[in-house]
Amino acid sequence: MTRIDIIAGARPNFMKIAPIIHALQQRQGAGGVLRYRLVHTGQHYDASMSGDFFAQLGIPQPDVNLEAGSGTQAEQAAAIMVRYERLLLDDPSALCLVVGDVTSTMACAIAAQKLKIPVAHVEAGIRSGDWGMPEEINRMVTDAITNWFFTTSETAGDNLRRTGICDDRIFFVGNTMIDTLLANMERLRPPSFWQDLALAAGNYLVLTLHRPSNVDATSNFERLLRTVGAGTRGLPAMFPVHPRSRKTLEQIDGLPNNIRFVDPQPYLEFNYLVRHAKAVVTDSGGVTEETTVMGVPCMTLRDSTERPETVTVGTNEILGTDPAALVAALDRLFNEGWKKGGIPERWDGKSAERIVVTLERILSA
Ligand code: UD1
Repeated sequence: MTRIDIIAGARPNFMKIAPIIHALQQRQGAGGVLRYRLVHTGQHYDASMSGDFFAQLGIPQPDVNLEAGSGTQAEQAAAIMVRYERLLLDDPSALCLVVGDVTSTMACAIAAQKLKIPVAHVEAGIRSGDWGMPEEINRMVTDAITNWFFTTSETAGDNLRRTGICDDRIFFVGNTMIDTLLANMERLRPPSFWQDLALAAGNYLVLTLHRPSNVDATSNFERLLRTVGAGTRGLPAMFPVHPRSRKTLEQIDGLPNNIRFVDPQPYLEFNYLVRHAKAVVTDSGGVTEETTVMGVPCMTLRDSTERPETVTVGTNEILGTDPAALVAALDRLFNEGWKKGGIPERWDGKSAERIVVTLERILSA
């Protein structure tokens, strides 16, 4: 038997690990020799940011919770590294599998690699080029010390090859976040407020904003909210509010009343909302992948993306953070309609299987 660690820390990690765990369980049932230990770092700890996702996506209880909690970037990374290192010293695994680009991803990769435990990175190689985002630093540091790279696109593979990584360490497997979406498409269900607010397919927008650059300064955040509020032709914009954004919101008065602030939604409810929305306005990366697969118009309020296929193939457009661009895009949406988009290569629901088969091969070599 060989045991690997699977690291999960923050909300966008959970939908990425779920299908990997399910694929591992399936292989085990069929006599596979790979075992796993699920390590939750505790970076996200509220039920609405963590526990609800485990329950809805059938993720087993973590074997270990490092309970690192909130803090500055360095405080969080440090707490996770110290606690994960202690765990590995007491009871080492054969490999550390990290996903995505959150602080937990980078911190666990560093702790493992320094103990000579090889690292596999799922969603490796994506780059926005924007060092102002903590996620970009997390991606670069993680990939600098990763042994095995599982990628969502050829572009990500090219980014890695440009840094001198050989082809035999890069595996273009597709997108495990999309495995989860495809597996749950028929289970998506309306949120509790759906009927009360008389929501129906196409009669509302979805808004999500939580990037520090958009929400940490009151003036920026307020400007964006007023632009969305004025641009939806009276339609409501449903905004599930991340805890980070809530702190700034509490300091702003008199916001447009067609922006409806609701709690962070569980996975099935959030994606139901997205699937039936007229359009999504967001600064998330993961959401642009989901809108691409569901064919929903998506406007990204950022200057760059690490997921260019959501623009070149999918339904996403990068608007920057200038309200004028958002006004023009909303005009286009209502007057001319939006591009239809297609599905990126290998976003087919089978990515986790490819990862597990590859890991079995690597670890038995
Ligand atoms: C993190 C990820 C980001 C991801 C986002 C999704 C990093 C660098 N960023 O950002 O890529 O898109 O998660 O949600 O890892 N908080 C709570 N309850 C929680 C978690 C957080 O109240 O369960 C509050 C805390 O006050 C915390 C703040 O939200 O300080 C921000 O949380 P943090 O984990 O630092 O980063 P996110 O902004 O959530």
